[in-house]
Amino acid sequence: LLNIIVGANQGIGYYIAQALSQSKKPYQIIVGARNPERGNQAVTKLQATKSNENSTITTIPIDVSSHDSIVAAADTVSKTIGHLDILVNNAGIWGDNNSTREDWARVFDTNVFGTVDTFHIFLPLLLKSSDPKHIIVSSSMGSITMAEQAPRHPLATTASAYRASKAAVNMVLAEITKNVDGLRSWGVDPGLCATEFGGDYTRNKGRDPREAGDIARQCIEGERDDCVGKVVWEENGTGVRPW
Ligand SMILES: NC(=O)c1ccc[n+]([C@@H]2O[C@H](COP(=O)([O-])OP(=O)(O)OC[C@H]3O[C@@H](n4cnc5c(N)ncnc54)[C@H](OP(=O)(O)O)[C@@H]3O)[C@@H](O)[C@H]2O)c1
Repeated sequence: LLNIIVGANQGIGYYIAQALSQSKKPYQIIVGARNPERGNQAVTKLQATKSNENSTITTIPIDVSSHDSIVAAADTVSKTIGHLDILVNNAGIWGDNNSTREDWARVFDTNVFGTVDTFHIFLPLLLKSSDPKHIIVSSSMGSITMAEQAPRHPLATTASAYRASKAAVNMVLAEITKNVDGLRSWGVDPGLCATEFGGDYTRNKGRDPREAGDIARQCIEGERDDCVGKVVWEENGTGVRPW
């Protein structure tokens, strides 16, 4: 199965690649990275920990804030392989400030426009697969129900661009599930993970991102077929986040 993970040189995307490379099922894993050197370094590390001899790991340059870069990546896959079985839209940023138009534009450009543009550009290749699958790495922070129930954060001032961006991709997930025949999509809520994403906060308070990598693997390997079109959390069966 040919699999491209966008934003996979570190963090949750990296551990999704690792979970697949340690599965009993073989994969052709492509690490999408905006910085080719970081992509190569990730491939070297993943080669050292992979446990399935039949899986391959390569890298491709892709920056989701550049339409041309996404088109070039899809062209390469089209010319070399001709189809795509699994697309993982993982690239995302937190965004420290939420007060100016520029802050909001930056977060939406990566998390929403980058996700949607990548999806649309790769969709023709996905539809050439006999069983195409798609994952958007979302967050419990995108749940309006959970945001309403959460206590007011001491540092919150008006509204969070990050929460709004993840609510937006949740709507994208609901829409493509309804509108794109033959494709199965899941949202994955990784939980708070120890990655570079939220600086010291996520690094110190987050859990092992391998656990998040395994949630994506469960979706890909048929263990979460009951949750297609939903934001999946880790408890099997019951682990779905409210919209
Ligand atoms: N960590 C958490 O607690 C948490 C919780 C819920 C949801 N999430 C979601 O999980 C996803 C991954 O985050 P993470 O925690 O793994 O963060 P991370 O450690 O900062 O990794 C983010 C990855 O995305 C890449 N990326 C960022 N902007 C990109 C762009 N324009 N084009 C291509 N790649 C880009 C980064 O590349 P570089 O290395 O080049 O920067 C990196 O590989 C995000 O969608 C995030 O919203 C994270």
